[in-house]
Amino acid sequence: MARILITSALPYINGVKHLGNLAGSMLPADAYARFQRARGHEVLYVCATDEHGTPAELAAAAAGQDVAAYCVEQHAAQKAISDAYALSFDWFGRSSSPQNCELTQHFAHVLEQNGYIEERTDRMVYSPDDGRFLPDRYVEGTCPVCAFTKARGDQCDNCGSLLDPVELIEPYSTISGSRDLEVRDTNHLYVRQSALADDIRAWVDSKADWPMLTRSIAYKHLDEGLIDRGITRDLAWGVPVAHNGMARPGFGHKVFYVWFDAPIEYIGATREWADATGADWKRWWRLDEGAADVRYVQFMGKDNVAFHSVNFPATILGSREPWKTVDMLKSFNWLNWYGGKFSTSQGRGVFMDQALELLPSDAWRWYLLANCPEGSDTAFTWEQFATAVNKDLADVLGNFVNRILKFCETRFDGVTPEGGEDSPLEARLHAELGARMAELTASFEAIEIRKSAQALRAIWVLGNEYLAEAAPWTAVKTDRARAGAVVRTALNLAALFARLSAPFIPTSARIIAQALGQGEPAVWPGDDVVAELSHVRAGVAVRAPEVLFRKVDDAQLAEWALRFGGG
Ligand code: 2FM
Ligand code: ZN
Repeated sequence: MARILITSALPYINGVKHLGNLAGSMLPADAYARFQRARGHEVLYVCATDEHGTPAELAAAAAGQDVAAYCVEQHAAQKAISDAYALSFDWFGRSSSPQNCELTQHFAHVLEQNGYIEERTDRMVYSPDDGRFLPDRYVEGTCPVCAFTKARGDQCDNCGSLLDPVELIEPYSTISGSRDLEVRDTNHLYVRQSALADDIRAWVDSKADWPMLTRSIAYKHLDEGLIDRGITRDLAWGVPVAHNGMARPGFGHKVFYVWFDAPIEYIGATREWADATGADWKRWWRLDEGAADVRYVQFMGKDNVAFHSVNFPATILGSREPWKTVDMLKSFNWLNWYGGKFSTSQGRGVFMDQALELLPSDAWRWYLLANCPEGSDTAFTWEQFATAVNKDLADVLGNFVNRILKFCETRFDGVTPEGGEDSPLEARLHAELGARMAELTASFEAIEIRKSAQALRAIWVLGNEYLAEAAPWTAVKTDRARAGAVVRTALNLAALFARLSAPFIPTSARIIAQALGQGEPAVWPGDDVVAELSHVRAGVAVRAPEVLFRKVDDAQLAEWALRFGGG
């Protein structure tokens, strides 16, 4: 049994996330966590809301709320929605927690002791009308790279360039709209990443098994040359720079930059979990306290890779303390919305709460996992979604399960029949199933999510093919024992499908298992196919579930396309 630490990129606190956020980090991480737990490993899967920075402040202001109160409310909302998608976090924390505050201040302190922090005078955008500096998203303007007119101070959403607010052309305040802006001096702390560049490169070099997407982004940043990074801001909301034991003149009203404290919250969330449960967080994070045995896997969208492959490692490596660093950084491309982008700020696409008004979470889980943007960007389309639900779930898996259970109800009084001798048909089934299951397990181990979904779908298809060829409805007229044996095999296939499908569609998998009188489908099957097809014994009462998967019809699709766009 191994110990596996899993984290998904922390969703920003500013409102319910869209399906793109779900597809690119939380959902694959959840499926992987469920798979590894079922394999018998000790898994710790943590996530949290990313609560600092200008997105939080701006969203709170727009909602007319105090930012701390806004974060309490939005954290609860995001927790509820992640439960509704059956995201199996062991802990869903908050980057504004006292635990993270203390850790963030600790890292800044040790970086400083090691000579990796420098205080510098910066020129920052200041708004006399607002009476304050305008960091990051408090200022917008025209992108100096692509001329997009609504680029944000920290990043252009159109071309993806990371920006400095003073680079924006024709900038304006997003608080007051004022264009009467000036550039003033203000002091900030910098992490001397340039001095850590060799350490970071050597560390990235040691990650030869990282996916191509991850490695190419990491090396792009390393090859461009690491520049020192400002880690403080003139804001009121955030982790205070000044604290007991670290008085720094002029920093009484400054906080750490959100991207400094956010990844530290992976550790912070583990501490929150430990404080709440009495568990030991250090055996997951401190190499000197047991974490050397941990395999740490991170999931994120490609826009987060630089922060996790370069900036956060600079914090960790620069501490010169024995912290666990990531082993596998699994990154995803974009799930687009009809060629364009999902956009929280512009309300484009379907959001996590809206999606559940249309269909249950498993429909979305299956579609988003089977079509996740793994090798390249992919586009959401209503047609593809309908195919995933109607064909894969309803016609292939749902139909198989219902058909065999209904048949068992009508012809065998809903009691599982005795088994029988295997025919060549079963021998072939076992061979094909064994090959597909090995493929599924290997793909999951390699965190190849789309391949895993394909292998799983192929396994469901095998069930239908078996049933069509074995035709128990014909056999029952002449050879009831043979029909009974086929039914037993098929019921066992359904129980096996529940276990193999649980990481993808946990709610439906549980319903299938329950219908077959089985316990939680929480143990991953081994290689012995014959043994794995023997859990449903003779003489057990079974019943078909009401409706396993509801189909989507054309009228609904048209209505949804009208409501959300696309199509
Ligand atoms: O891009 C985002 O949505 C960030 N909130 C991700 C943060 S990940 C981690 F570093 F906290
Ligand atoms: Zn741009």
